Amino acid sequence: MLKETVAGLLNAQVNKEFYSAYLYLAFANFYEEEGLKGFANWYRVQAQEERDHAMLMMQYLQNNDCKVELEAIDKPDANLDKKIDPLRQGYAHEQYVTGLINNIYDAAYKEKDFRTMQFLDWFVKEQGEEETNALDLIKKMELFGEDARSLYMLDSELNGRVYNPPSLVL
Ligand code: FEO
Repeated sequence: MLKETVAGLLNAQVNKEFYSAYLYLAFANFYEEEGLKGFANWYRVQAQEERDHAMLMMQYLQNNDCKVELEAIDKPDANLDKKIDPLRQGYAHEQYVTGLINNIYDAAYKEKDFRTMQFLDWFVKEQGEEETNALDLIKKMELFGEDARSLYMLDSELNGRVYNPPSLVL
């Protein structure tokens, strides 16, 4: 069994990960309406990854004989007007999630819960990659977003993103 503090934080994180998926679906829908199907695809794949994160945390809790309590998922808090808005809000959101993961890690460390720390190592790395990807998208959009032809090429590039199941196996 996990300590209550650690299990509670992991259970809360399940909801946050599903919320992330929901937020990214809102971004995907915004880009669909804007006619940028590649950007929409990129965020739909991202939403699938977020759902995977939630599933992995649920499975980890269950593997450790902890009860999982699913809570209501909030309406996505997105303020979308300009084409770059989802990218900036997505980056800010990933930074927030990194803080949440670090917080769980900190609780596991204090409890000498080395198993959970090892489990979370994958998420720490994943957060690093997600922040880098989010920042790269912002930079590309700032460079090319104003030019229709470049934006078309960027959209085509993002349309190539395919879903890959997580490399972490429990
Ligand atoms: Fe589940 Fe984007 O972190």
